[in-house]
Amino acid sequence: MSMPARVVVMLSGSGSNLQAILDATASRHFPAEIVGVISDKPEAYGLERARSATIPTHCVERSAYSSRAEFENGLEAAIDTLDPDYVVLAGFMRILRGDLPRRFAGRMLNIHPSLLPKHKGLDTHQRALDEGDIEHGCTVHFVTSELDAGPGIIQATLLVGDTSDADTLARRVLQLEHVIYPMALRWLAEGRLRSSGERILLDGLPLDEPVVMSADTLLG
Ligand code: GRF
Repeated sequence: MSMPARVVVMLSGSGSNLQAILDATASRHFPAEIVGVISDKPEAYGLERARSATIPTHCVERSAYSSRAEFENGLEAAIDTLDPDYVVLAGFMRILRGDLPRRFAGRMLNIHPSLLPKHKGLDTHQRALDEGDIEHGCTVHFVTSELDAGPGIIQATLLVGDTSDADTLARRVLQLEHVIYPMALRWLAEGRLRSSGERILLDGLPLDEPVVMSADTLLG
């Protein structure tokens, strides 16, 4: 793979994970660069962040297409014009069901704000509180066409402790997301992490479970 690897980020919202990746790629030794940001929401603040970093942006709105399949074709066309090695979903609030997860198998990442397989889908922080979880966190995983179910790469964990409201918990988790997402992208772009058939390999060894890192380790 050519260096630096070409990365497209897809988002629907604030884009703080995009920012974390932009900050990481600004370092001279990062093996990837963001070549474009695609959003389904014209008002997404993440587009503003991309423009500030002079990254090309594209908006592909669901309402411009008459069916989900055509919308996904529109997304695919936007991605293809950027010719990426990897696609990174960073708060992209659409489920991709068509060709994209297949075409980018082993080359498309997502970050989810829970310790998968717990709390797939939305409202993960409130659900962790409601269920009295002792640990909570986030997971970077490969994307498949099944929601939040692709092979896990890294999980960051924290102790819920005294945190009793979902917004505070979300902020604590987001801080971890900003560390592990660039880390996973680095592993992928360096070729340390790759998928071989059904298996995920990290440094040549099968990765049957995600690498788990605690908040203490990650934030020091
Ligand atoms: C994050 O919580 C991420 O885990 C989830 O969507 C949110 C995106 O946040 N997939 P941001 O737009 O990166 O700030």
